[in-house]
Amino acid sequence: ETKPRIPVLWLHGLECTCCSESFIRSGHPLAKDVILSMLSLDYDDTIMAAAGHNAEAIVTEIVEKYKGNYILAVEGNPPLAEDGMYCIIGGKPFVEQLKYAAESCKAIISWGSCASWGCVQAAKPNPTRATPVHKVPGLADKPIIKVPGCPPIAEVMTAVVAYLLTFDKLPTLDKQGRPQMFYSQRIHDKCYRRPHFDAGQFVEQWDDEAARQGHCLYKMGCKGPTTYNACSTVKWNEGTSFPIQSGHGCIGCSEDGFWDKGSFYDRL
Ligand code: SF4
Ligand code: SF4
Ligand code: F3S
Repeated sequence: ETKPRIPVLWLHGLECTCCSESFIRSGHPLAKDVILSMLSLDYDDTIMAAAGHNAEAIVTEIVEKYKGNYILAVEGNPPLAEDGMYCIIGGKPFVEQLKYAAESCKAIISWGSCASWGCVQAAKPNPTRATPVHKVPGLADKPIIKVPGCPPIAEVMTAVVAYLLTFDKLPTLDKQGRPQMFYSQRIHDKCYRRPHFDAGQFVEQWDDEAARQGHCLYKMGCKGPTTYNACSTVKWNEGTSFPIQSGHGCIGCSEDGFWDKGSFYDRL
C-alpha cells in the first residue's frame, strides 16, 4: 500500500482490442483496483482521455523520467513490411514507438496471441509482416512475459501484473516464455469432459445425442489435447464457463500458429 505505483505504458499495434476487453472484466483482482491502486497506467491510447500530440508526449515523458522502472504492456504487434507503414501511431510507424518504449523498460508483457505469436494478422502469406514482439529486431534480449490467448483470461492477465508488483521479478516462465503457473497444463488435462474421452464417448455431430449428453468434443476438432492454457481450471467470466463447457471444442487460441493449422474443426 505504501509502494509508489509503477508506471505502465500500454501500447496497441495490429490487434482487435479484445485483450483490453478481457482485462477490464477481471474479478479477482478487480481491474479497477489494478489500474487505480496498483499501477499508474500512464499511456493507453485506446482508453486514455488525452489524444494527439499531448498523448504521444506522455510516452517520451515516462521513458525519460522512469528509465528502467516502467512496465511496457503490448497488445497487438507491429507489421514490419514497408518500413512499418501498415500501422501508424501519432504519425509514425508503430514499430518505432514500440522500440523506443522498449529500450528502457523494466519488462515487457506481450498480451495475447497477437503480441506473443502474431495471430490472424500474421496468417500466411502475412503480407504486412505482422511480427510478434520477441521477434522484432532488437527486442529478443528483453525480459518478455508472453501471456497468450485470443484473448488471454482476465484473471490470468491481472495475476501476472499482481505477481510482478508483489515480488518485483518476473514469474517463472516456461521454454516458450509463458508464466508456468497458468500455462503448464493442457486444457485436456483438467477438462470436465475427460472421463468421456477416456471412455471413448465422442460427439460425432453437433446435434447428436452425445452432444446433448455432453460427451467429448475431440472428434469435432477440439484442440484441448495440444493446448496449454488455464481455461479448464480458471475458466472465464469469474469462473463461470469456458468454450468446451458451452459446447464448442477448444480451437487452441493460445498456441503459436493456431490460425494457420487448417480448419478449427479438423481432428488432430
Ligand atoms: Fe484481439 Fe486476440 Fe489479438 Fe487479443 S490476441 S488483441 S483478443 S486478436
Ligand atoms: Fe479433451 Fe477436448 Fe475432449 Fe475435453 S472436450 S476431454 S479437452 S478432447
Ligand atoms: Fe482458447 Fe481453447 Fe481456452 S480456444 S479460450 S484456449 S478453451
